Amino acid sequence: ELPDGAALVATAETLAREAGRLVHEGRPDRVRVHATKSSPVDVVTAMDLASEELLRRRIAQLRPGDGILGEEQGYEPGTTGVTWVVDPIDGTVNYLYGLASWSVSVAAVVGTPEAGPGVAPDPQTWTALAAAVHAPADGRTFLAGRGQGATLDGAPLTVNEAKPLELSLVGTGFGYLVERRRAQAAIVAELLPLVRDIRRLGSAALDLCAVAAGGLDLYYERGLAPWDLAAGALVAQEAGAVVTGLHGRAAGPEMTVAGAPGTIEALVTFLESHRADSTA
Ligand code: IPD
Repeated sequence: ELPDGAALVATAETLAREAGRLVHEGRPDRVRVHATKSSPVDVVTAMDLASEELLRRRIAQLRPGDGILGEEQGYEPGTTGVTWVVDPIDGTVNYLYGLASWSVSVAAVVGTPEAGPGVAPDPQTWTALAAAVHAPADGRTFLAGRGQGATLDGAPLTVNEAKPLELSLVGTGFGYLVERRRAQAAIVAELLPLVRDIRRLGSAALDLCAVAAGGLDLYYERGLAPWDLAAGALVAQEAGAVVTGLHGRAAGPEMTVAGAPGTIEALVTFLESHRADSTA
């Protein structure tokens, strides 16, 4: 028996909005960010931590006993079977630079009990029940409930119609490690001549939501963490997208690909033939 999805969606929205307000209002101005003596990234890390602390405190109040898996503080097992997978700021570089494409990503999932006590739920086996991706800088809120569809600010979302790769607008993202970036750049170099164009928007959660809303036809990325993809993948699926890994595996850290049925197959074939899930 799965918990009530609609109630979880409402809770996910509350959490994402509250953390989003904190992070948005607390953003230091550009001058201060760049003048700071310590690494500029420290400013973001401090806000990341504050946001995740808010999320953890509010989850404990609203859903006592649920587990939490977050980017900053890791996994805290619960007792109810439900785990909240949270990214306190997805798109930290955009946030640092004052670009609007960053979000707070909140999902409720049920993990596989056979993974054993104390083991964090895994994107390749969990069932996502509810999702909220809130982008405070432009005020957009994407919501989805399992089997209930996906919305943007209350309006239902549907992916774009099927189309060939050469007409597809493709989103992607890059990891932070240099070797990984070299491998990812090589794949982009091969893909770019085959597609309409490529976008690097800077927030994996919003990339997946863009597929849901028709702002991208396709999205792929290697190296996503569970909190990067948890909420966005459910939003995309509930809008009609296929969200998958390569070689029949589920979406996860190795590879996440999203797009409409009829569009996604050509990209999956391309990525498989370029071993995009195993190079670096
Ligand atoms: C990053 C963003 C980015 C993606 C990276 C992620 P963060 O998350 O989602 O778009 O390309 O792989 O790590 O670090 O801003 O939370």
